[in-house]
Amino acid sequence: MKNQVNQSPVVNIFNEWDPLEEVIVGILDGLTIPSYEPVMEGCIYDKAKSIFKTQYGKRWPKDEIDAAQKDLDEFIGILKSEGIKVRRPDKIDFSKPFAGPEWKSVCGLGAANPRDSLFVIGNDIIEAPMGWRSRYFECFAYRSLLKEYFSKGAGWVSAPKAQMNDNLYNKDFKSRNNEYVINNFEPIFDAADFIKCGRDIFAGVSSTCNEFGINWMQRYLDNKYGVGTFRVHTFRFNDQHPMHIDTTFYPLAPGKLLVHPERVVDIPKMFKDWDIIKAPNPCIPSTHPLYFSSPWMNLNVLMLDEKRVIVEKNEENTIKELKKHGFKPILCNFRNFNSFGGSFHCATLDIRRTGTLQSYF
Ligand code: ALA
Repeated sequence: MKNQVNQSPVVNIFNEWDPLEEVIVGILDGLTIPSYEPVMEGCIYDKAKSIFKTQYGKRWPKDEIDAAQKDLDEFIGILKSEGIKVRRPDKIDFSKPFAGPEWKSVCGLGAANPRDSLFVIGNDIIEAPMGWRSRYFECFAYRSLLKEYFSKGAGWVSAPKAQMNDNLYNKDFKSRNNEYVINNFEPIFDAADFIKCGRDIFAGVSSTCNEFGINWMQRYLDNKYGVGTFRVHTFRFNDQHPMHIDTTFYPLAPGKLLVHPERVVDIPKMFKDWDIIKAPNPCIPSTHPLYFSSPWMNLNVLMLDEKRVIVEKNEENTIKELKKHGFKPILCNFRNFNSFGGSFHCATLDIRRTGTLQSYF
C-alpha cells in the first residue's frame, strides 16, 4: 500500500476552537436499543432505564428517529454553509449480537455520537477502549474514514482491548457523587471523557473512564510526543451519573471556560485568570425523552472558531449567556437529536482545525 503523506496534515486538532475545516458528523441509521448492562447502573438516569431492560435489540421509536434526523440534516446544512467539510461514518448493521470470551451483547448501539469512540489529538486518531460492552465495536463505523486518513498520513492506533469481564464493575455500586461503577481493573475511557486545550488536556473520572485509562492516555502521549508535551489533568466532578466531560467542563476559547454550575464545585487554580461561564439552566421541557443523558445538553455546543458557536435554538438562557461573553451563536434545532445521547459536540468529531500546539496557561 502506498503511503502518500501530504504536506499539510489531513488530521490536525489541538483544542476545541481553532477554525474548523473538516468534521465527522454521526448518523442515526441503524441506531439500536442495547440491553441493560452493568455500566448503565452508573450512567443511565432512572427514568430511562426501562427501555434498555425491555426493548433491547429493537429500533428506537421511528417518529423520534425521524424527528432527530430532521435536526441532524439542519445541523449538517449549517456546517456546510459555514464552509466546513462534513464526513459521515459507514452505515453498518448494529442489530447483530456479538461477544467477548466472558460477556455477550445482544446488539450494538450505533454511530450517532462519534465524539465518544475516537480521540483526535495532533495528527493522531486513537480508538477508545469504551466503557459499554455494547459499544465495543462502534469504531468499526469509522474504519473507511480511518483508512483514508491513515493513507494520507494520519496516525491511527487503538488503546488496549478491554477484557470487560465482571471484575471491571464494582459489585455494591450505588449512584453517588465520587462513586464509579467501574474500577481500575484495566484501562477504560470514552474519548468524550477528555477535552482539549492545547498542551493541557482535561479528563473526568466517570462511569466510562477510570484512572487507569487516563494514565494510559498520558503515557501514550509522553511516549509519542515526549514527556511534558501534553499534560493530562484528572478531575472528579460532583455528578451522580458521570459520563463524558463535555456537558460539565468545556474550554470554549482561550481564556473562556464553560462549566456546569453544580457539578464543578471548585474551579481549578490554573483557570484563575479565565472568564468562567456558569451554564444557565437548560430550557428543555422535563417531558422531553432523554434516553442517555441529563437535560444539560445546553452545554454541549460546537465551536466553529473562537467566536462562532452552534447552540440549540430553544436554549434561550444559554444563547443569551454566550452572547454576553462575546460569542456569536449560530442557532440550530437539535432537541430531538438530544434524546439519543448528545448535542452538537457529541454528534461530531473534529478532524482538522487550522492551528498549532500552544499552551494557554
Ligand atoms: N454527562 C452527560 C449528561 O449530562 C451525559 O447527561
